[in-house]
Amino acid sequence: MAMAGSAIGLGNIWRFPYMVGQGGGSAFIIVYLLSTLLISLPIFLSEAAIGRKTHKSTFGAMQRLAPGTPWRWLGLLTVISPLIILSYYSVVGGWSVEFLLKSLTFSFSSGDEAQIMGFFGSFISSPWGPLACHTAFLGICTLIVVAGVKKGIEKFSTWTMPVLFLLVVFLMVYALTLPGSKAGVDYLLKPDFSKLTASAVASAMGQSFFSLSLGVGTILTYASYVHEKENLLTTGLGTAGFDLLFALIAGFAVMPAVFAAGIEPAAGPGLVFETLPYIFAKMGASTPWLSGVVSILFFLTILVAAVSSAISMLEVGVAYLVEEKNFSRTKAVCVLFAGCWLLGALCSLSFGPLANVKILGETLFSFCDKLTSNFLMAFGGLLFTLFAGWRMKKADVRGELRAGKAFGLLYFLIRYIAPAAIIVIFLTNLFL
Ligand code: PHE
Repeated sequence: MAMAGSAIGLGNIWRFPYMVGQGGGSAFIIVYLLSTLLISLPIFLSEAAIGRKTHKSTFGAMQRLAPGTPWRWLGLLTVISPLIILSYYSVVGGWSVEFLLKSLTFSFSSGDEAQIMGFFGSFISSPWGPLACHTAFLGICTLIVVAGVKKGIEKFSTWTMPVLFLLVVFLMVYALTLPGSKAGVDYLLKPDFSKLTASAVASAMGQSFFSLSLGVGTILTYASYVHEKENLLTTGLGTAGFDLLFALIAGFAVMPAVFAAGIEPAAGPGLVFETLPYIFAKMGASTPWLSGVVSILFFLTILVAAVSSAISMLEVGVAYLVEEKNFSRTKAVCVLFAGCWLLGALCSLSFGPLANVKILGETLFSFCDKLTSNFLMAFGGLLFTLFAGWRMKKADVRGELRAGKAFGLLYFLIRYIAPAAIIVIFLTNLFL
């Protein structure tokens, strides 16, 4: 459940719908499915095998299996990259805090639709509100991680994941009944391959890594806590399947609503935060109480999903500081809170006062997003498959995965297919 909690998050509800919108609808989804099966699953299994074999988080695992080699840099890289993700992720988590507070006062349920839709733009460009919400979001995650793996992370995930699932299914059913929603369903089901550029293929792969929390040591770290008697293959298949299902259901909840509202599907990161309030406003015109309840449920869903993912990013750094640097859990969490808060604050301000500060043509927020999901996650994922496929003993990988007859195929995917595919997609994108 904790692994599913890490996987299912803003990546499914916030990022997936707008990536599909920018990448050309169902053609993007097909590439996403293929990448999940052929590339992401092998990375997941590689990380899981390394983590459980050593019962150490990334840095310690590399030291144990390949002492004194440059592999320790992979250990360090994967301590840093989830913290970069956490910094900007917390900004979006903060938006969901604000939207939840707004729905608690029924703010989306009555009033002018255009004004309600415009709220997102004016909110994120103001400096203080988003900063306060970012702080609150990161604070919640910090408290859960301080409580520890069993009492904090596992407990939280076991309770919230099933509830979350029911909520999203409910929202999908509702969205599908909206007038005009059919165009959104068509958009998700009829592939338009002309929109599938090299960069869309790379984004589909990046989205698949992002959604399954791969290449940044999260899965490795969680697997290091997994008991020997658990089966990693079924855990991997379960997590990937659940995550996929969740993304698709979220897609079918959001996209029909986007079309019903007449919003451009390629609108970008604001898609969910602009579309949904519009829907709630429309719903509110006839049945305000229903709109109020649904909006509360929806933003609560996003918030809970975001928290259960964010804590997994934090845990990687915490595990490193506790295992390698002898920090207490509380001290480790506080140090990381400070670092992530600062970078996140800058990302948050990049929608307002710092909008003109650009790195390689991108605002700080989108630079951090692209750096991690299009580059660091792919790079980390590549190195993890190479490590499991070429550096670890085959017998150890076999012993961890316990995949029976399927092991040969999985090992082939880990050794050849996944690394080759990442390199090809990466280079094609770089040169095109
Ligand atoms: N998988 C998470 C999501 O879909 C994001 C994440 C990325 C979590 C990397 C952990 C590590 O929202």
